[in-house]
Amino acid sequence: MSKLVIGSDHGGFALKETIKSHLAARGVAVTDIGTHSTDSVDYPDIAVKLAEAVADGRFDRGIIICGTGIGVSIAANKVPGIRAALCHDTFSAAMSREHNDANVLAMGERVIGPGLACLIVDTWLEGSFAGGRHARRVEKLKALDC
Ligand code: RB5
Repeated sequence: MSKLVIGSDHGGFALKETIKSHLAARGVAVTDIGTHSTDSVDYPDIAVKLAEAVADGRFDRGIIICGTGIGVSIAANKVPGIRAALCHDTFSAAMSREHNDANVLAMGERVIGPGLACLIVDTWLEGSFAGGRHARRVEKLKALDC
């Protein structure tokens, strides 16, 4: 299993805790980089902290959560090397791995329930990159990094 990191702002804190419990029950190790309460924080700060930890190789993949998933996905995608996918269904989660080699999964606690969120996490973690023609396209994404 690859090294996994998870983070959220206050709007995603409860779902982060739920996902941590879910992963622990499955024996999946994950490092929590915060936030550690429902006190208000700014989502770009935690999203960039997680994204940099993935981009510099400390972790292979990351899960980032806010109220909608939108703010954290926008912020994470500004870090070179990050391909963050905002997924609120299992098909998108599977395709984000197979076609886009997404290395960050973003979700919104206020958008979906915890059961679906855990299923999305499982789908995303089990997915693998298909390579082939998708590799050429991901290389073009990488070339857009500055
Ligand atoms: C925080 O209220 C909220 O704006 C944040 O969690 C997220 O939804 C932003 O995109």
